[in-house]
Amino acid sequence: MKPKPYAAEPIPPDAETRIVTMLRSGDLFRYTANADAPVTCLEKEFAAFMEVPFALAVNSCSSAIFLSLKALGLGSGERVLVPAFTFAAVPSAVVHAGCQPILVNTGPDLRLDLDDFRRKLASGVRALVLSHMRGHTSDMDAITEACEAQDVPVVEDAAHSLGTTWSGRKIGTLGRIGCFSFQSYKLVNAGEGGMLITADPDLVARAIIMSGAYEHNWKKHAIVNSRFMHWQNRLPLYGLRMNNLTASVALSQLSDVPHRARRGRANHDYVAAKLTASGMFRVPAPLPQEVRAPDSIQFMLEGLDSGDDTTEFQRLAGKRGVQVEIFGLSRDNARAFWNWGFLQDEQGDLAPTRSILNRACDVRLPVHWEKAQLDSVAGALVEAAQGVASARNPVRGCTSPKRETSLVDSQATSAFGTESVNRQ
Ligand SMILES: Cc1ncc(COP(=O)(O)O)c(C=O)c1O
Repeated sequence: MKPKPYAAEPIPPDAETRIVTMLRSGDLFRYTANADAPVTCLEKEFAAFMEVPFALAVNSCSSAIFLSLKALGLGSGERVLVPAFTFAAVPSAVVHAGCQPILVNTGPDLRLDLDDFRRKLASGVRALVLSHMRGHTSDMDAITEACEAQDVPVVEDAAHSLGTTWSGRKIGTLGRIGCFSFQSYKLVNAGEGGMLITADPDLVARAIIMSGAYEHNWKKHAIVNSRFMHWQNRLPLYGLRMNNLTASVALSQLSDVPHRARRGRANHDYVAAKLTASGMFRVPAPLPQEVRAPDSIQFMLEGLDSGDDTTEFQRLAGKRGVQVEIFGLSRDNARAFWNWGFLQDEQGDLAPTRSILNRACDVRLPVHWEKAQLDSVAGALVEAAQGVASARNPVRGCTSPKRETSLVDSQATSAFGTESVNRQ
């Protein structure tokens, strides 16, 4: 049976008990109870897990990023750095907050290009929203040092990095604010949902009120802080609250995060080793400070990275039942900056990022997958690369064209084509 990387996975049964209790009481709103609502419990547990004083649960990571910028007092066209390789929701949240996204090039290892970052940081910006895309952490030592020197706050978009550490510190705690997603296809799947974490009492008070803690509902948060009274009635209420159903689903998975992170890393490294050993793939290595928690693998084809080669590789992998996404080549991909037509401003030279996105391949590796599924995916990817190599250069290819024909099921059709997939 072909591995199904986009199939949904059951939610732990613990969620059912919590939800049935809630359905019987009808208590779905986080502020009905004075204390210990599931949303409040999730905030407490998440803060404890991340080892930070404050956590605010919201309805999405996009909302968490939007609220971060608002809590920082930004919004009058202020310039905010954003990686050119991120999900469209990120520059959208910046625009939604009334700021101007300035896109920073991405390097071949899918991390922020530090030269372009330093150049643009010096051009007068008010914040950096840093997506650790697909869990690849940019050089946080260099970035936080440069931002501190300019007094520019870092908002970490850790949507793909729950469970990742940098020099032993949890990703999401290195900037002024960290933002997480519980949308499906994330390490914790609550359908939708997000979390904002910070150690700053003023920022969290502002964010809580603006998330929709009207009147004195902020008193129901497990956070005691004199800043709430200061901000009472002075801030807009944006209605971005999480509800108790979402929190119950997320709560049932939180304690499993370390296990999922270990499994994801082991799965990734197992497939990465097989791809690298074939000599036909370049898989970005982790930085020395980084311990990752991936649920996917990214790579480029070694010596075969023209657009045509990559597309042919995608086609051959699809025939073998493995869905490969090429960020820049699948139609309307939301991670390709040239599809962000809502950005009005001239962004300068982003050709380096475009070139990388036109070659970078992305394959989902669900953390619960076993060795047989990983072997099947790795085998199909190597065969697909061999197929491209032997078609381009029969001497270099490890497989002769004849053998290639025998490996491909001639009746099979690509299930995936080059359509963009709906994973965020
Ligand atoms: C890198 C990244 N940042 C932010 C988001 C926004 O997350 P959400 O869907 O929870 O708003 C996503 C969405 O998947 C994402 O991929």
